[in-house]
Amino acid sequence: MVKVGVFVGSEFGTAERVATHLAHQLALIGWQVQLYSQPEYEVLLRYHQDVVVIVTSTTGQGEQPKAIAPLYEQLRELGGYLGHCHYAVVGLGDSRYPDFCQAGRHWQQLLAEYGGQPLLPMLEIDASETLDSLVPCKAWLKQFSRQLNTQLTV
Ligand SMILES: Cc1cc2nc3c(=O)[nH]c(=O)nc-3n(C[C@H](O)[C@H](O)[C@H](O)COP(=O)(O)O)c2cc1C
Repeated sequence: MVKVGVFVGSEFGTAERVATHLAHQLALIGWQVQLYSQPEYEVLLRYHQDVVVIVTSTTGQGEQPKAIAPLYEQLRELGGYLGHCHYAVVGLGDSRYPDFCQAGRHWQQLLAEYGGQPLLPMLEIDASETLDSLVPCKAWLKQFSRQLNTQLTV
């Protein structure tokens, strides 16, 4: 069975909440899901034939949150073949910052560079527009599960 790994980068808990919600909803519809709040390089590479979902906020000046930064740097430096991996990125940010959702955008680029297959364009959750970050997830989840069903088998 295809596995879905949800890898989280969160400074203050919002991305963590979104990731927990997404993981829960995906598990409810029958996918084998695992959530990683302290994601590790070796674990990510185990998903090279599965599905990787990155849920990350952006912090500082366009930076990765502390928990996911080492994973991002290791993948960037050491690489890894992800040619059979499908992925999606959920980026949380605030468009009042100049580097809006930069951490998520960097993930999109990196996963594509190593051959990953995007399932959907990145979902951007803008804190300046959205009071409840779970609201934009609803439509995205529908599209995402449609993509999983057409491109992969439960
Ligand atoms: C100190 C600080 C720096 C931030 N820097 C950025 C940024 O560079 N780009 C951006 O899009 N959002 C930025 N944000 C907004 C957060 O990404 C946004 O509020 C997000 O929802 C926080 O999610 P988290 O609680 O999971 O970290 C910043 C927020 C804080 C508090």
